[in-house]
Amino acid sequence: MGWFVHHVNVQAHNVRESAAFYRDIIGLKDGAWVYPETVGEVGHNPDSIAAFGSLNRGIHVVRAIPTFPRDNNLLHNPTIGGHFAFNVPDILVVKAKLEAAGIAVSDAGEYAMSGVRQIYCYDPSHNVIEINQIVNPSGGPAPGAEETNDLRYEPGMHEGEWALHHVNLPAHDVRATATFFRDLIGLEEMAWEPAADSPVAAYTSNPDSLAMFGHQNRGLHIAKPTPAFAWDNGFKHNPTVGGHFALVVQSLDAVKQRMDKAGVVYTEAGPYAMAGMRQLYAYDPSLNLVEIDEII
Ligand SMILES: [Fe+2]
Ligand SMILES: [Fe+2]
Repeated sequence: MGWFVHHVNVQAHNVRESAAFYRDIIGLKDGAWVYPETVGEVGHNPDSIAAFGSLNRGIHVVRAIPTFPRDNNLLHNPTIGGHFAFNVPDILVVKAKLEAAGIAVSDAGEYAMSGVRQIYCYDPSHNVIEINQIVNPSGGPAPGAEETNDLRYEPGMHEGEWALHHVNLPAHDVRATATFFRDLIGLEEMAWEPAADSPVAAYTSNPDSLAMFGHQNRGLHIAKPTPAFAWDNGFKHNPTVGGHFALVVQSLDAVKQRMDKAGVVYTEAGPYAMAGMRQLYAYDPSLNLVEIDEII
């Protein structure tokens, strides 16, 4: 129905250090932020924000700005704890549904990204969620009816040949959060496509543990935090706790080599959960969990 993950916002204690991780270790190219004509009180400078991707799509690395809601007359603070942003075809429909359900919405308008109108709310687990809509061509191509969260329809891998693959939100009540994204945000729940002989099939096939929105496992994963998940799978990281996001890159081995050289601790999970995908987990310098994938 034309929605997609527009960007991932990660909080950084030191933006330049985190930016170096995404650029030099993961291999992404620095992007340029595109501001609207009238900019809100966003407080951006090279020490407060770095962007990877194009037309503000991709990854935003930001420092915490405690006064951000007061400065911009918002209820929510999108700079603290990070957030995920979903682009929808009609933001007013979503806003009306949220408000009819009694959910407080911050309507920021077109204040930070050129051509993109943004609203914020909390999901049922109190993750900050951004919903946005491309409102003029400076925000990039508006999603056509054919655009889906399917890599085949990606309007273009970002420079350096990478793309966001999915975002993973932790939810203590997976069904309540799935209902929120389905009925209020308008996303479509789809079936998980498991890896062959997946050791986590009992988890991924249980609708109370995992909900998936998008095609071919690409899009939004809503996951039940499970303390034993890492132990059970011999992982150094637990991707079910605290949420994470995933990039798909051309060469996971190249990323691994750079991590080895830099002494970054990673979990090479292999093709264990998703059909046709090699997966690796690592923390960025501010301990945001990043998943890096390669299609196999
Ligand atoms: Fe955002
Ligand atoms: Fe993931």
